[in-house]
Amino acid sequence: MTSATQLPPAVTGRPMTGPPPEVQLVMLTHGKRVSQVVYAVAALGVADQLTGAEPRPVPELAELTGTRAEPLYRLLRAAAAIGVLTEHPDRSFGLTPVGAALAADAPNSQRDMVLLNGDPALWRPYGDILHTLRTGEPAFEHVFGTSFFEYLRRSPETAATFDGAMSSIGRWTSLLLAAQADFSGFSSIVDVGGGQGSFLATVLSRTPGATGVLVDQEEVLAGAPGVLAAAGVAERVRLQPGDFFTEVPGGADAYLLKAVLHDWDDEAALRILRAVRAALGDAAERPQARLFVGEQVVGDPNSWDPAKLLDLDMMLRFGGRERTLTEWRDLLAAAGYQLVPPSGATSGWVLLEARPVP
Ligand SMILES: C[S@@+](CC[C@H](N)C(=O)[O-])C[C@H]1O[C@@H](n2cnc3c(N)ncnc32)[C@H](O)[C@@H]1O
Repeated sequence: MTSATQLPPAVTGRPMTGPPPEVQLVMLTHGKRVSQVVYAVAALGVADQLTGAEPRPVPELAELTGTRAEPLYRLLRAAAAIGVLTEHPDRSFGLTPVGAALAADAPNSQRDMVLLNGDPALWRPYGDILHTLRTGEPAFEHVFGTSFFEYLRRSPETAATFDGAMSSIGRWTSLLLAAQADFSGFSSIVDVGGGQGSFLATVLSRTPGATGVLVDQEEVLAGAPGVLAAAGVAERVRLQPGDFFTEVPGGADAYLLKAVLHDWDDEAALRILRAVRAALGDAAERPQARLFVGEQVVGDPNSWDPAKLLDLDMMLRFGGRERTLTEWRDLLAAAGYQLVPPSGATSGWVLLEARPVP
């Protein structure tokens, strides 16, 4: 027989401040459903069909998205249950402000990021998380038999989704990070692993006299001219395809590494930092030269912190990691830099300034 203490609070009448703990626990396992619902709504372009329009009935949305009405209804109903769409009594659907950000043309569009998070390259390693926990190896390589960046080279569609998501998230993180430093004293700036150039473009827009070099893999740089032209800085930027473990162009005043080092374990991150350190040259001769590292710094224990979740992506995908401020200081010191103590926030997106030391 069940004792009163084993009964859930809803039955015993004890005060409840939210769902009972066991319900909260099971709710935490809905992540795969929630994220795939949002992914499918994005991949089908449902939000694009609903932007600026009256709510549309399911058969019409099915026609527009090339799907079958019955399973589509069930998807959209679930999307309405999690606040992405609104369901009307006639089974027509409209957008909520949250769902509006799924449209490709929305000014705050997160479509590329949602498509990336729903791509098998991102979620399948989670199905193999115990492999990483038991071996310390990235689950990605166990699942796909190759490294993430090699996989991107072989899968142009996922590569385009990845680059699009990096550019899209890069737009606001670039603004956030660029505002944390004064670049006016620098006349030449190299963005190492700069993707399609969104951060370099933001920094150069704020530094009218400076020129830039964008270093990344050749196939990624192919997408850079449009990003740089849109920011009006294309004529000030040289594109340099290359491998940042071995070929960082020397002699610039400032080097940027944004969202690069978290992809790598400490050993590989040190190799990148040392390649940049060599490019920075003699610290005694060029005391003003700087490295700026833009990353999400992990916050205090128990705090809600997206970096603690993204850290798992890094661990499973690359063997990389998000780092605390102390870990950043130690890593930079090991590669020949001194971290300038941040004057602002020490968690979340932080632009760390590092001074090369002899
Ligand atoms: C997470 S993305 C960050 C891109 C950009 N800094 C940003 O914040 O949007 C990491 C970048 O590192 C580049 N990358 C990876 N391996 C590289 C290598 N060996 N040499 C140069 N770039 C590389 C990738 O192509 C990608 O653009």
